[in-house]
Amino acid sequence: MQKRRYLDNAATTPPDPKVIEAMTSCLAENWGNPSSAHQFGHDAKMALETARKEIAALAHCEADEVYFTSGGTEADNWALQGVLSLQPDSKRHIVISSFEHHAVIDQARQLEKLGAAVTQVPVSASGFVDASAVNQAITSQTCMVSVMHVNNELGTIQPIGEIGRLCQTRGVLFHTDAVQSFGKLDFRFNELSVQLASISAHKIYGPKGIGALLIKRGTRLGARSFGGSQERGQRTGTENMPGIVGFGEAAKLCRVLREEEGARIRGLRDQCETRLLEAIPDLIVNGKGGNRADAILSLRVPGCDGEELMIALDMRGLCVSTGAACSAGARGASHVLTALGLSVKDARSSLRISFGRFSTMEDVDALCETLPTIVKQQRENSIATVT
Ligand SMILES: Cc1ncc(COP(=O)(O)O)c(C=O)c1O
Repeated sequence: MQKRRYLDNAATTPPDPKVIEAMTSCLAENWGNPSSAHQFGHDAKMALETARKEIAALAHCEADEVYFTSGGTEADNWALQGVLSLQPDSKRHIVISSFEHHAVIDQARQLEKLGAAVTQVPVSASGFVDASAVNQAITSQTCMVSVMHVNNELGTIQPIGEIGRLCQTRGVLFHTDAVQSFGKLDFRFNELSVQLASISAHKIYGPKGIGALLIKRGTRLGARSFGGSQERGQRTGTENMPGIVGFGEAAKLCRVLREEEGARIRGLRDQCETRLLEAIPDLIVNGKGGNRADAILSLRVPGCDGEELMIALDMRGLCVSTGAACSAGARGASHVLTALGLSVKDARSSLRISFGRFSTMEDVDALCETLPTIVKQQRENSIATVT
């Protein structure tokens, strides 16, 4: 049977074996309800707070600034909706970038239907948000700005330090979607002028369905749910204990491995990029020359259809994506790539290759041997179809 090679770590990462072990033991042995007053409850509560501390240590924040959610999507939704819910009519304007994750864009659209005003700041052709454009978009009615840290399709790192400082000067709250940076970059919540940050476990070798919103002490936010006192009454409901324990274990591992792992992943990414550029000279690397995260290689292959390339690679056991997993499959072009000013056709010629803890040089070798042949075939086929 042909070996399957996973090069789509921006969509999700395989759970680390230590995470699986911690979760299994939580399910089998430490299954109590952390709100119970007896010993089962105390043991579960201890595991809950240990996980919270691990996540806080990786995020460089206080443990009581970590509020568990069902993932990055819920954290993004909550940040926007929670801020808006407490604003007077005169302060219902939000500024976001045009290539935010759908969890931010679609929540903003929803709030617009309820009377909020939303400004989408454009991004540069190479995939960066300009802090001065954010500054210009802020008005006396703005209550918050939301700009992601690392773009999930391009890997470009946004200037959140600078945007945070200007938000502070302008007196508006700043939320960042840190789902693709947490555990990978040196993300220091306590050193940034950021009041709210979304994170997710399944991007850092943890389980799906668990994440958190980091809420800086003193930030006023409407509650996410009602009916209980969990998460200090802000996000109520019995906690997803196996998920939380797995998230804590994943964070602990990232804290130890992050730097060395980042360098190794960067090496794989750079090798892959160099070799593919040699083999396919007109290949375009999105975000090249700018500040990029180590794990993501976003490519445009002129004259090819990204989805067809992805399917052809999949048939040869190589799993990559055309863009975000949640919008892949939807026809049309990615909103991230069209936000760069690309035509629908050019946007549809993209491929995203993303590396992780379990990626190897053999994966890179296999991709670099296979992709150029597939590209050549596709180009020849399209010439044959046109003529
Ligand atoms: C930047 C970004 N934000 C939010 C999310 C959503 O996170 P989750 O899958 O945990 O809901 C993702 C996941 O792809 C993401 O990449």
